Amino acid sequence: MNYAIILASGKGERCGLDVPKQFAKINGKTILEYTIEAFNKNELTDRIILVTSKAYLEFCKKLKYEKIFMVTEGGKRRQDSSRIGVNLIEEDDAKVLIHDGARPYIKNELINNCYIALDKFSAINTGVETADTIMEVDENKIIKKIPNRKNLLRCQTPQGFISGLIKKAHKIALKKNLNVTDDAGLIVNLGLGDVFVVDGDIENIKITYKDDIIKAKEKLR
Ligand code: CTP
Ligand code: MG
Repeated sequence: MNYAIILASGKGERCGLDVPKQFAKINGKTILEYTIEAFNKNELTDRIILVTSKAYLEFCKKLKYEKIFMVTEGGKRRQDSSRIGVNLIEEDDAKVLIHDGARPYIKNELINNCYIALDKFSAINTGVETADTIMEVDENKIIKKIPNRKNLLRCQTPQGFISGLIKKAHKIALKKNLNVTDDAGLIVNLGLGDVFVVDGDIENIKITYKDDIIKAKEKLR
């Protein structure tokens, strides 16, 4: 069974709209619906788990996509929302992709590549090269390190896991009070195995700022 968990429980504070960014309407449809559509029509996805906030539960429950399996209320941090999502999966041998609801440009081929990579690896991330050189600085803005750009990739979603592994990681993280920004980070931080990086897509951006909303009106048709 292949699951896609779509995270849509954030507030979108950096975007500063009067609704969370994933519920902003672009050409008559919410950003979240574009994201759901991508997984709903993906041939390898069997079930979609949608994680959203209390205020949008009713809205989300009314969405008509045949692969939506469950709609549930998320948590305070992204990490909490994703833990709640993965814990709804009973099987330990399912493939699960976790994707930001705020990444509506996700392409079918990338979704497929993620599931396929899970035939070989128990944990995968998607990443893209960085055009700019990245520098590590200290609190006084003095450069500490300039890692080789070739070894640096920017993290995106989907991230993918065998369900038993990611459930275990979240369980340990909760016990240890671990804070991470994404699920692949859990596996790395807890030393639970290798995380393979699937080539991401520079167009698969996360709607974050107001400007991204303006551009979305052009890009999402
Ligand atoms: N997310 C979630 N539950 C949370 C926080 C975030 O499901 N408690 C989701 C968001 O809805 C988004 C994805 O995780 O689809 C990536 O998070 P981010 O881009 O940080 O979204 P927000 O937290 O909503 O935005 P901001 O950080 O600007 O407030
Ligand atoms: Mg956030």
